[in-house]
Amino acid sequence: MKNIIVITGGSKGIGKALAKKYADNDYLVFSIARNTCPINDVHSIQGDLSNPENIEAYFTSILQIVNLKKVSSFTLILNAGSLGTIGNIEKNPLNSIQKTVQLNLTGPLLFSSIFIEKLKEATFEKKIISISSGAAIKPYAGWSVYCSTKAGVDMMTRTIAEEQKTLVNGVKVNAIYPGVVETNMQETIRNSPEKDFKNVQRFIDLKEKEELYTPDFVADKIYNLDCENVLETGAIVDLRNL
Ligand SMILES: NC(=O)c1ccc[n+]([C@@H]2O[C@H](COP(=O)([O-])OP(=O)(O)OC[C@H]3O[C@@H](n4cnc5c(N)ncnc54)[C@H](OP(=O)(O)O)[C@@H]3O)[C@@H](O)[C@H]2O)c1
Repeated sequence: MKNIIVITGGSKGIGKALAKKYADNDYLVFSIARNTCPINDVHSIQGDLSNPENIEAYFTSILQIVNLKKVSSFTLILNAGSLGTIGNIEKNPLNSIQKTVQLNLTGPLLFSSIFIEKLKEATFEKKIISISSGAAIKPYAGWSVYCSTKAGVDMMTRTIAEEQKTLVNGVKVNAIYPGVVETNMQETIRNSPEKDFKNVQRFIDLKEKEELYTPDFVADKIYNLDCENVLETGAIVDLRNL
């Protein structure tokens, strides 16, 4: 019997650390991102998730590899994300808004829909874990699209939990705020001009004071939360509060 995990954005940052953690613990791991995941034994599917049309084909290709009769758990980690254009909303052009919403919110909604529908008869344990952000509940000037999409991911989590919790073979859904984590995304934040992102100094200070989490630390925390199975469905957890 095998535990299966599909991670969006497993090529770098938090997603790569998660792919390593689960692969080291004998899960069959799939990453979907534009670049391949450099971790041995992780199956990489290369694709641009800001084009959600392709998500069904990616998931179908995974189901062709997995023998569902020999699965004990199947988890989807919705991790791929982007800040989009940093700057007040009037600086965000249509194309950037569309791509960011599609990657951060439309994709997770559609992937959840496909995951739930295609595995609806399966009796093994099924989970969807979204990597959300404290930006879902704290407005940061310059991040209107990012904050909006993460707030959407939180409400997606709570709503799907309501839909699934009374079903016999329902999917468990949770969202996690990982804290401030040293990844390419943080580098982008620290390099933002203050005119576009007035909170930039806070993130520079966190880096200088060495207060950022490492991706490996965050992956360990998420893995443990997942394995301990302590979260109620619909719960949204900030790792900084654990
Ligand atoms: N770092 C933080 O402090 C922090 C804080 C709160 C929440 N988060 C959340 O954590 C998640 C991971 O972020 P991270 O910090 O690890 O960022 P990262 O290092 O920039 O990694 C982002 C991941 O998303 C993938 N991705 C980006 N655009 C994509 C696209 N168009 N199609 C497919 N995959 C795409 C990237 O893969 P490719 O480039 O290979 O496509 C990469 O694997 C995000 O949802 C982010 O919002 C991060």
